[in-house]
Order: sequence, then structure tokens, then C-alpha cells
Amino acid sequence: LESLLLLVLWVLASQPGPLSTFSTPGTQDATAAATAEKGLHMQKVGSGSVRAALAELVALPCLFTLWPRPGAAREAPRIKWTKVRTASGQRQDLPILVAKDNVVRVAKGWQGRVSLPAYPRHRVNATLLLGPLRASDSGLYRCQVVRGIEDEQDLVPLEVTGVVFHYRAAQDRYSLTFAEAQEACRLNSATIAAPRHLQAAFEDGFDNCDAGWLSDRTVRYPITQSRPGCYGDRSSLPGVRNYGRRDPRELYDVYCFARELGGEVFYVGLARRLTLAGARAQCRRQGAVLASVGQLHLAWHEGLDQCDPGWLADGSVRYPIQTPRRRCGGPVPGVRTVYSFANRTRFPSPGERYDAYCFRGEATPFECASPGGHAPRACTFIPAAPPGVWLSSRGGDQAGERHKKTCCAVSRAPRERSYL
Ligand SMILES: *[C@@H]1O[C@H](CO)[C@@H](O)[C@H](O)[C@H]1NC(C)=O
Ligand SMILES: *[C@@H]1O[C@H](CO)[C@@H](O)[C@H](O)[C@H]1NC(C)=O
Repeated sequence: LESLLLLVLWVLASQPGPLSTFSTPGTQDATAAATAEKGLHMQKVGSGSVRAALAELVALPCLFTLWPRPGAAREAPRIKWTKVRTASGQRQDLPILVAKDNVVRVAKGWQGRVSLPAYPRHRVNATLLLGPLRASDSGLYRCQVVRGIEDEQDLVPLEVTGVVFHYRAAQDRYSLTFAEAQEACRLNSATIAAPRHLQAAFEDGFDNCDAGWLSDRTVRYPITQSRPGCYGDRSSLPGVRNYGRRDPRELYDVYCFARELGGEVFYVGLARRLTLAGARAQCRRQGAVLASVGQLHLAWHEGLDQCDPGWLADGSVRYPIQTPRRRCGGPVPGVRTVYSFANRTRFPSPGERYDAYCFRGEATPFECASPGGHAPRACTFIPAAPPGVWLSSRGGDQAGERHKKTCCAVSRAPRERSYL
């Protein structure tokens, strides 16, 4: 709606007003002179969303040009960065920093995580360096430059990808050597988390009282709400507990980091629930496979919310909750795990019946109604394809000639494929 409003304003502003319609040559010249005098211009980046992974550093670009205006040459521009929207689209108005006269003032809550690396050496480069990134940094950022009565701004969307999750083996708590921990993450579309990943997740509120391996062979766990049994090496303070580097044969759980979904996870709920083998077969019938634990966490991160436990590829049973509610596993959002024992150990046995979560990869070829009836050959994915249903055919259809056909999957989220 906001962009529509802006467009309307822009259209109104670009209409010749009554002033110019009825103006004499003299006032027209004055208008032209005023335009030439305007010395502040934002170079709109407009290159779409900036994407970066959790715990990385990212540069949010903001460039402008400045011409000394007669009589105002010495006035320094004022740069202001603000976060204006959350990832879920809620309006925000969080000042981040203000820079003027070679002094940068950073707002509380952003100190130590933001800087203007080019300022004041290159005064017209207001690029903001932000990180290590947290998931909650996703959203829309505004760069505003003001000099005198001139005021320009640009908007930069940021998307932080990747999610950290705790993983416990099927049989029992604390049963993974370091090598087995690495393998468990790999089998679940993830890698073993680095300490910086766990720290970033902790800063967004991740709390888990289970010691787990990390990539540097240390064993740690994140505690935001300190409580007996979870004090570790930090007594009653919040923080990431650290057992230090351990013998790789010792046994713990693990923290994994999954970076990119590269497809879609969808829920399958049949009236007659499924055994583990039945769930595998059902996903296959729908052109997919059972989702891994990493894939379910990434789908949850992207908004999947389903209060129905379902089988996953590792033989565990889990479900993703965005909006906590009664009888959906507790008061905080997260992926819930169904264990056999009250002490939160042991996956359900494969003969038990649940729903299923399937995964369909972006690179998975599929059939579609190709216009003109030509059978699709090799299938490549167009990463930046716009959403929505779209059928088209481009290029020559002669034998050997490259041509493109685009069609949509029959799944919930339409995907486009290009055939060469
Ligand atoms: C602006 O500054 C950033 C950060 O130092 C740098 O990476 C980028 O190349 C600069 N851009 C221009 C056009 O100077
Ligand atoms: C959890 O409970 C099961 C069954 O009572 C038991 O076999 C297992 O050792 C327990 N695990 C832990 C870590 O307490």
C-alpha cells in the first residue's frame, strides 16, 4: 500500500502544475535554475533485497552525490540510518545512527554492531556495515541524507538467512561423539554450528539447556533464562555456557546450522495417519521426499506454522509453531519434537502413526503443461522468478535451437522452471 501511495504522489508531483502551465518565460527560467541548484542526489541502489547469512557482516549500500551550492557550500550533510520495518512487515522506527561533521553517533542497542566504513573519508558514501547478523535484523532499512532544505532517502531491504537448531540422536540424550555430531548435522541439511552462530541465536532469545558440540570442538549451550541445572560456567547470568574444548570421544548433543532451504517444505495430513514407511511413500507419490530436520527449521524460519506432528527423514516426529497457542507445545515459537519418554529422549517407533512433512527441491524436475505441447527436456530453475502463475514460451522451437518454456508447479507455492 505504501509503495502505491508513493507512486501516486510521484505521479502527482510529475504532472505539470498550474504554475508551469501559466508561467511566463521568466518564471520558467527560475524553476530551471532552482533544479540545477539542487546539489544533493541519492543514487538509488534499487537492486532488490540484500541477503546474508546469520552471524555474517553485511554492507547496506547508500550512495549520494553532492554539489557545492553557491552560498551553502560549507554546510555538511547529515546522514541518518533507521530501521523502518520488521521482517514480518510491522512498522518500526528504530534510529540506528546519525553522522554529521565527521562525528558518528550510534543509538543504544546497535553499539558495536554498526559502522559507516567509508565515512568521513568518502562523505558521499553512507554505506552501513552491520553484523554479526541476527535473524531479527531482517527488515527494511532507510538511509536519509539531509543538507539544508534538501532531503533524500533510499530504502534497503535485508533478509538474514539460516537457522540454528539443537539436535539429539534417536536413542538417548548425550550420545554423539564429535564425528557423529558433524555427521548428524550433515544428514539434516546442515553443518555443525560455529560459536558465532550459537551466539547470534542466543542474542535473539534462543534458550536450550542441553550441552552440544560446536564446530571448534567446544561444547556449549545458550541460556537466556538462568535456572538451576543450567548455570554452567556463568552461574545465574544469562549467556552461552561453555565447557571448553573437549575430547572428541566424549558424548553430547549437537547444535547445527542450516543455511538455505532451496525448495519448499509442505505438510501432508491424511485422515488415516501414516507410519514412517507410509510417510516416505506418500512424499514420493507427491514428487518429494521426507523433509530433514534442517529443512523443517528453515521452513519454520520462513513462516511455516502447523500444529500437527509429522514424520521427518531421520525418523523423528516434529512440528513448526510460529504463533504459540494452547496444546501446541509451550509458550515460545519454535519447532517442537515428539519424544517417547518424559525426559525428552527416544524418537517414536517407526510403526506409530503421524502426519508427514515433505520437501520438494527447487532443482527437482517435474512435468507441466507446456504451451504448444512440446515435451520439456532438461530443467533449470530461475532463482529470481516472480511469484504467481505464469505460462509462457519463448525462443525458437526448431530442433537444436535453444528455447525457453516456463511453467508452474502444482504445489502450494508456484515455482517456475525454464526449459532449455
Ligand atoms: C562505499 O563504501 C563501502 C564500504 O567501505 C565500499 O565497499 C563501497 O565500495 C563504497 N562504494 C563506492 C561507490 O565508493
Ligand atoms: C530417559 O528415560 C529413559 C526411560 O525411562 C531411560 O532409559 C533413559 O536413560 C533416560 N535418559 C536420561 C538422559 O535420563
